[in-house]
Amino acid sequence: MINDAAPEGATPLDPDEREGLKPKHITTRGELDELEQANIQTGLQWVSRSRQKDILTDDFLRTLHKRLFGEIWNWAGTYRQTEKNIGIDPLHIGVELRTLVDDARYWTENDTYPPLEAAARFHHRMVQIHPFPNGNGRHARIAADLYLERHFGHTPIEWTHGFDLQTDNERRNAYIAALRAADGGKFDPILELVGANQL
Ligand SMILES: Nc1ncnc2c1ncn2[C@@H]1O[C@H](COP(=O)(O)OP(=O)(O)O)[C@@H](O)[C@H]1O
Ligand SMILES: [Mg+2]
Repeated sequence: MINDAAPEGATPLDPDEREGLKPKHITTRGELDELEQANIQTGLQWVSRSRQKDILTDDFLRTLHKRLFGEIWNWAGTYRQTEKNIGIDPLHIGVELRTLVDDARYWTENDTYPPLEAAARFHHRMVQIHPFPNGNGRHARIAADLYLERHFGHTPIEWTHGFDLQTDNERRNAYIAALRAADGGKFDPILELVGANQL
C-alpha cells in the first residue's frame, strides 16, 4: 500500500525497507504522508535551533535525514543498500556524497557559481546519488536551502510555488522534468525552476 499511488519520480520501497516502518497502524499512503510531514516539522525545528554553520559533511547530511524521518523509519539516516530505479550503485554512496560536499565547499570558496546555481547543482547531484531508501527529494531540498543559508547567507529556494511537491501536479512534473534534463547535463530547466536565471 505504501508504494500505491506514489507520484511520478518517487522511489518504491522494497520489502525490507517497508519493514522499517515504526508506526504500525498506517494503512494508506495519505496517513504515511501526514506522519512524515509531522516528523519533518519536528526535524526543521531542530535544524533552526542548531547553529551549525558548516552543513557540508556527510555526517551532517545523515543526521539531518534522521531528524526528518527517524520517527517513521528505523533506517532513517542510514544509506540505501539496494538498487533503485534512480540513484547510483549503493556501494558508492559514501564516496560520492563526500565528493559532493567537497565540491560544494569548493564552489562556495571560489565563487564558482552564483548561490542559486550552486544550490541547484548541489540538490540535483544529491538526489541523483539518492543516498537513502526514501525521503531523498524532501531531504535534498532542505539540504540545498541550508547550503544557501549557512554557506552563502542567501534566502531559501521557492520550491513549491504553492503546490504540494509530494503529489502529481504541474509543479512536480516541471521539477522532475528539470532533474531529468540535469541528469543529461542540461541544467537550464533546473536553474529556471529555482529562479537562478532571474536578474
Ligand atoms: N531522474 C531523476 N534524477 C534525479 N533525481 C530524481 C529523478 N527523478 C526523481 N528524482 C528525485 O527523487 C525524489 C524521489 O525520491 P524519494 O526518495 O521518494 O524522495 P521523497 O520521498 O522525498 O519524495 C524526487 O523528489 C526527486 O527529487
Ligand atoms: Mg518517496
